[in-house]
Amino acid sequence: MAANPTSEITLTVNGAEHQLEIEDRRLLVHAIREDLDLTGTHIGCDTGNCGACTVLKDGEAIKSCLMFASQADGSEILTVEGMEDLPESGEDLHPIQAGFHEEHGLQCGFCTPGMIMASKALLDANANPDETEIRTAISGNLCRCTGYQNIVKAVEYAADEMAQTAAADGGTVVETDGGEPR
Ligand code: FES
Ligand code: FES
Repeated sequence: MAANPTSEITLTVNGAEHQLEIEDRRLLVHAIREDLDLTGTHIGCDTGNCGACTVLKDGEAIKSCLMFASQADGSEILTVEGMEDLPESGEDLHPIQAGFHEEHGLQCGFCTPGMIMASKALLDANANPDETEIRTAISGNLCRCTGYQNIVKAVEYAADEMAQTAAADGGTVVETDGGEPR
C-alpha cells in the first residue's frame, strides 16, 4: 500500500520556528499536541463545535481541528503556552490568565485554553469590549461547567488590567459610564 503523502512545512509556534515532515492529512491540532508536545491546546470534539482547540494563527483565533497542518505552512501560531512570554505578561501570568484565576473563570479547566485564546484575539482587536462583545467572541467556545458569567468577568478583569498598564506607560484610561476607569 502506498504511503500517505507528506509535506515539509514550517510553523512558528510561540516564537520558535519548527520544520516538520508531516502527513498532508494531519490536522493542525495534532501537529501542535503530538509533534510539538504542546498539550495545552485541547481536543474536545474534533469537529469544530467546542472551541477547546482554539489557537491564534497569524493573530486570528482559529479552531485548529478544522485545518490541516499543511494549510498553516509558513504561519505564526500562538498557543496558551506562549501567553506568559508575551510583552503584556511582564514577569508573570498574562492578564487574561490572571483574570481567569482571580475571577474563578474555570472549574474543570478543559475549555480554558481555548477560552483564553479566543479572549486574546478579542482584546487584541477591541481593548474595551462590553459584555455582549465578550459573549459574542467566546460564542464558539463551549464550557460545560461555569455558566460563562465568571469567564466574562475574567475577560473584563484582563481588559481593566491592560488598560491600567497602558495608562501607567503613558496611555489613557478608558472611562466607563460610571466614570470608573476600566
Ligand atoms: Fe476543535 Fe472542538 S476540538 S472545535
Ligand atoms: Fe469545565 Fe469550562 S471549566 S468546561
